[in-house]
Amino acid sequence: MIKAYAASEPGGKLHPFEYDPGPLDSQEVEIDVSACGICHSDLSMHDNEWGLTEYPFVPGHEVVGTIARVGGQVGHLHVGDKVGLGWHSGYCMTCASCMAGDHNLCAGAQGSILGRHGGFANKVRAQAPSVIPLPDGLDMISAGPLFCAGITVFNPLVQFDIKSTDKVGVIGIGGLGHLALKFANAWGCEVTAFTSSAAKQQEALELGAHRIVDSRDPAAIEAEAGQLDLLISTVNVSLDWKAYIDTLRPKGRLHFVGATLDPVSLGVFSLIMAQRSISGSPVGSPATIARMLEFAVRHDIKPVVETFRFDQVNTAFERLKSGQARYRIVLTN
Ligand SMILES: NC(=O)c1ccc[n+]([C@@H]2O[C@H](COP(=O)([O-])OP(=O)(O)OC[C@H]3O[C@@H](n4cnc5c(N)ncnc54)[C@H](OP(=O)(O)O)[C@@H]3O)[C@@H](O)[C@H]2O)c1
Ligand SMILES: [Zn+2]
Ligand SMILES: [Zn+2]
Repeated sequence: MIKAYAASEPGGKLHPFEYDPGPLDSQEVEIDVSACGICHSDLSMHDNEWGLTEYPFVPGHEVVGTIARVGGQVGHLHVGDKVGLGWHSGYCMTCASCMAGDHNLCAGAQGSILGRHGGFANKVRAQAPSVIPLPDGLDMISAGPLFCAGITVFNPLVQFDIKSTDKVGVIGIGGLGHLALKFANAWGCEVTAFTSSAAKQQEALELGAHRIVDSRDPAAIEAEAGQLDLLISTVNVSLDWKAYIDTLRPKGRLHFVGATLDPVSLGVFSLIMAQRSISGSPVGSPATIARMLEFAVRHDIKPVVETFRFDQVNTAFERLKSGQARYRIVLTN
């Protein structure tokens, strides 16, 4: 039996929950969980904000641990390997996206907390291709948040061929945003942090931002007109997207990774006249996760974390909801 923490209803308290995972699939591995980060998507799924959640619901998709068992057809992972697992726990492996290396765009991908029980548990299972070995030099607590928050903000730098001479903005300095500042700074870019929290302004400079803008001050945003090559939104709320489009240089891009639920309403002329784009992306492929981990080790990029024990999971969820967490909460034993 796997011992986990589950909610029985939308927003319900997490309680100890055991389940029988059945026989191990030949393509699967079983991981003994050491630590698991808490992403805002865990909260949104817990509250069934996206209408996708099945209960009992076990959150947790920034999982790090040690391989305990491997299925008969798994060749590249071994018992004892230190590994991580993010949002996806398997891919179809045969669609055009998988064949092109864009596994994270696979329409048949399986979610670690969608139709499966996640990493707020002593063990978790996943298809082997979605489980990535940790490079040397990365501790278990720091590694967890890289598997969702980290890859989600690193991937746009790769996808859009961002150059060290580019200027990158980040809206929302939370779990994703604080790692975006670190990655974009290490990439060599000029980095602007847009935050609604006065208390985070000084901290954002220490995390890698060169410039700070109040994300809800129209005059401050207007003063940034025409500056940015890439602007990554990590917020889950609606902001004045028209004003943000105007911060882009010609050919600049506003890229959504934050799950803003309201429609984005924009006149197209601010796009057409300067050939600007808006786009979005989910996490990243296994190969990009592996590249991200190597890059993180080389540049000593680690999340800033607060740790809670697994049995304090309800307190940890409240802390994330409060907006006070600096900057990622990680559960550990
Ligand atoms: N695309 C993907 O693959 C992917 C992957 C992971 C997560 N996500 C999504 O990304 C979003 C962020 O996740 P996270 O874990 O980083 O969340 P988080 O730690 O809660 O950070 C979100 C940040 O948004 C800003 N914010 C919140 N409320 C705001 C408001 N009313 N006005 C302005 N700014 C506000 C805050 O930054 P400031 O204090 O600096 O303003 C906050 O720290 C979520 O929607 C999550 O579901 C998407
Ligand atoms: Zn996540
Ligand atoms: Zn596929």
